[in-house]
Amino acid sequence: MAGITYEDFLDLSYTPTETDLVCQFSIVPAEEMDMEAAASRVASESSNGTWAALTVGDDFTDLSATAFAIDGNEISVAYPADLFEKDNMPQILSCIAGNIMGMKAVERIRLKDCEWPEAIVSSFDGPTFGSAVRNEIFDAGERPITATVPKPKVGLSTDRHVEVGYEAWTGGIDLLKDDENLTDQAFNPFHDRLTESFAARDRAEDETGEKKSYLINVTADTNTMLERIDMVNEVGGEYVMVDVITTGWGAVQPVQKRCAELGLAIHAHRAMHAAFDRLPDHGISMRVLAQVSRLCGVDQLHTGTADLGKLANEDTVGINEWLYGELYGMNDVLPMASGGLHPGLVPEVINRCGTNIGIQAGGGIHGHPDGTHAGAKAFRQAVDASVAGVSLEEYATDHPELAVAVEKWGTETPR
Ligand code: 3PG
Repeated sequence: MAGITYEDFLDLSYTPTETDLVCQFSIVPAEEMDMEAAASRVASESSNGTWAALTVGDDFTDLSATAFAIDGNEISVAYPADLFEKDNMPQILSCIAGNIMGMKAVERIRLKDCEWPEAIVSSFDGPTFGSAVRNEIFDAGERPITATVPKPKVGLSTDRHVEVGYEAWTGGIDLLKDDENLTDQAFNPFHDRLTESFAARDRAEDETGEKKSYLINVTADTNTMLERIDMVNEVGGEYVMVDVITTGWGAVQPVQKRCAELGLAIHAHRAMHAAFDRLPDHGISMRVLAQVSRLCGVDQLHTGTADLGKLANEDTVGINEWLYGELYGMNDVLPMASGGLHPGLVPEVINRCGTNIGIQAGGGIHGHPDGTHAGAKAFRQAVDASVAGVSLEEYATDHPELAVAVEKWGTETPR
């Protein structure tokens, strides 16, 4: 017989094995609790312990986590790989970001970063394409791919939505994208929008000689998403879009498997991420959400705009580096810069994030004084100028759409 108490979950001499999942947390212990006591409770509650000392017999596999490092308000916890079911992201998160997020032993706790061992990574499929979409689906060469989302984000009729898409595609944008809250509402039904958009896409391809595609939002319950994915495949689509945080990882995983079978890419919108990552000392960082997204197999992910756009608290560059990094042979993810971008910000987005990205603009295209088509041209011109190393001012001298956009917005950061 052996006993388990909180003290058993703290060992500052422990060295993680190569199969351990190592998580880094920042914690603010509850009043009158020291870091050691709080760290041991985090390791306990996130693996196999509880508030009471337990007596266990021999018929027990010890899957205890170990808090092995404390540095200021940061702790590192190692989890044995056998604690986790293979290819089951909800189960992993129920451990490392589950009850501990609400326990009284800590005032605040934030899961900041994870080091994923091969034992766990290899059980997930990962992205089918990743950043290879730029040249396997498009022929973008060295430039970022571009996307636009019609605005207003909901309320446009199907006909108008399709028209906006056509104007954007023929203006030089690669991808039409639905917004996160457009799915299958009465004003713009999914099936009508799907078939009519792909018919317009084909016309835009004929007119421009460029490959075009559409990120249609299939977000719904899992069964409905699977049906919608099949519909997208039937009309010759290349992608689906999923709001991965609101649908949840247990839905994203079967979506990924169906898309992989059909050869479709997944564009991940991160709406609701800020419920987890906005408070700097609590929740789950966007970095970890991005790691989870890669394991669950999304090909493109919104990772912000490196503080150039309308969203707060961004670690875009660090997250993007992780998404590109080597991960036991798993494909990378194409980061999408989005949220408050317009042509005047494109050079600095590329300066900060490089060209192996997608750049998406809604208001920064449809808010152009001369309308969507001109806005799309201006946005593409800004991308082409930046990749060629030409300043926007110089490029604008013989590109009037860009001149109007730069005159209107300059390099302002929207709020
Ligand atoms: C998105 O889907 O990222 C937003 O709808 C972007 O819209 P915006 O470019 O108008 O900020």
